[in-house]
Amino acid sequence: MKAVLFCLVLSFSTLVLVSESATTRLTYSRWINLLRYAHSSLQRDPTAVEDRQYNRTDHVQLIADSILKHFFNDIFTPSFTEDGELVHNYDRVPVDFLIMLDSSASIGSENFLKALQVLSTWIDILDEEDFSSDQLRVSMVSFSEPDQVIHEFAFSPALNKSSVISYINSTEYHAGSSTSTAQALWLADTIFSKHARPDAAKVMLMATDGWSHDVLELPFGVLWPAVRLRKLHGVQVFTLGIGDKINHNELEAICSKPIANHLFEVDDYDMMLEVLEKVKENQIFPF
Ligand SMILES: *[C@@H]1O[C@H](CO)[C@@H](O)[C@H](O)[C@H]1NC(C)=O
Ligand SMILES: *[C@@H]1O[C@H](CO)[C@@H](O)[C@H](O)[C@H]1NC(C)=O
Ligand SMILES: *[C@@H]1O[C@H](CO)[C@@H](O)[C@H](O)[C@H]1NC(C)=O
Repeated sequence: MKAVLFCLVLSFSTLVLVSESATTRLTYSRWINLLRYAHSSLQRDPTAVEDRQYNRTDHVQLIADSILKHFFNDIFTPSFTEDGELVHNYDRVPVDFLIMLDSSASIGSENFLKALQVLSTWIDILDEEDFSSDQLRVSMVSFSEPDQVIHEFAFSPALNKSSVISYINSTEYHAGSSTSTAQALWLADTIFSKHARPDAAKVMLMATDGWSHDVLELPFGVLWPAVRLRKLHGVQVFTLGIGDKINHNELEAICSKPIANHLFEVDDYDMMLEVLEKVKENQIFPF
C-alpha cells in the first residue's frame, strides 16, 4: 500500500515539476545548482562538504542579494520622489506574512535559539511603520512531531514590530522527534484561507534543517498543500534550508517558481545571520 502511495506521490511530483518548468525558463544558475546538488547527494560523507566549489564569503553575498531583491524589494516595493526621497506608499497592497519554523529535535536547543535570532533579525529589517499602519501582519507556526504543529501567534492588527519580535523570541523549543512538514503546510493552508486578508499579498517563509517525515501519511505529502498554497491562495512561498541534512528536492517542490528566487540554502545558522547582516548593510532604505 505504501509503495503504491509512494509511486503516486512520485508521479504527481513529476507532473507538478514538469508542468511548472515548462513555464519557467531553466536558468543557467539553476542547472549549476541542480548539478551541484546531484553531485553532493551522491557523496553523502562529511568530507564531500570540503569539495564544494564555492567560496563562503561569495555565497553569503549571493544569498543576501537574492533575499534583498526577491523578498524585501519585490514585496515591500519602496517609492521615491523625483529627488530620490523615500515616500511611504500606503496605497500599495497590504502584506500578510506567515513564518514557518521547524522545531524538531535534530536542530538542538542552541541552534533553535539561533533560528529565533535569524527570524527576529529578518523582521527587524522591515519598517516599523508598516506594522503600525497595519500594512503588514505577521503570524507564525512552529512544527515538529504531529501533535507539535503549533500556531504560535496569529495575524493581528494589534501586533507592532517589537511585539512580533518578542513573540518570535519567546517561542518554545519543542524538540519533537519528527518533522511534520506536510501537516504544517496544511495548517498554513487553513491560516491563509481563514485568517489572511482577502486583499493582501500573501507571503510565507519556511525555515527547516531537515526533511519531512509525514510524506507517506498524508495524501501526496508536502506537494498537495504546497500547490494549494501557491495556486489556490496565491501565496508566494520562500524556503530557507539550513545545514547539510536538508532535502533540496523537497524544498524546491514547496517553494514558488522561479526556484532560484525563492529557495535560499546556507551551511549553518551563523551563516544565515551573516547573510542578514549583509542584507542590512546593503539596504538603502527602510522597507
Ligand atoms: C572568497 O572570496 C573573497 C572575495 O570575494 C576573497 O576575499 C576570499 O579570499 C575568498 N576565499 C577563499 C577561501 O577563496
Ligand atoms: C508595541 O505594542 C506593545 C504592546 O501593545 C506596546 O507596549 C509598545 O509600546 C508598542 N511599541 C511601539 C513602538 O509602538
Ligand atoms: C531574545 O531573548 C534573549 C533572552 O532570552 C535576549 O538575550 C535577546 O536579546 C532577545 N532578542 C531580541 C531580539 O529581543
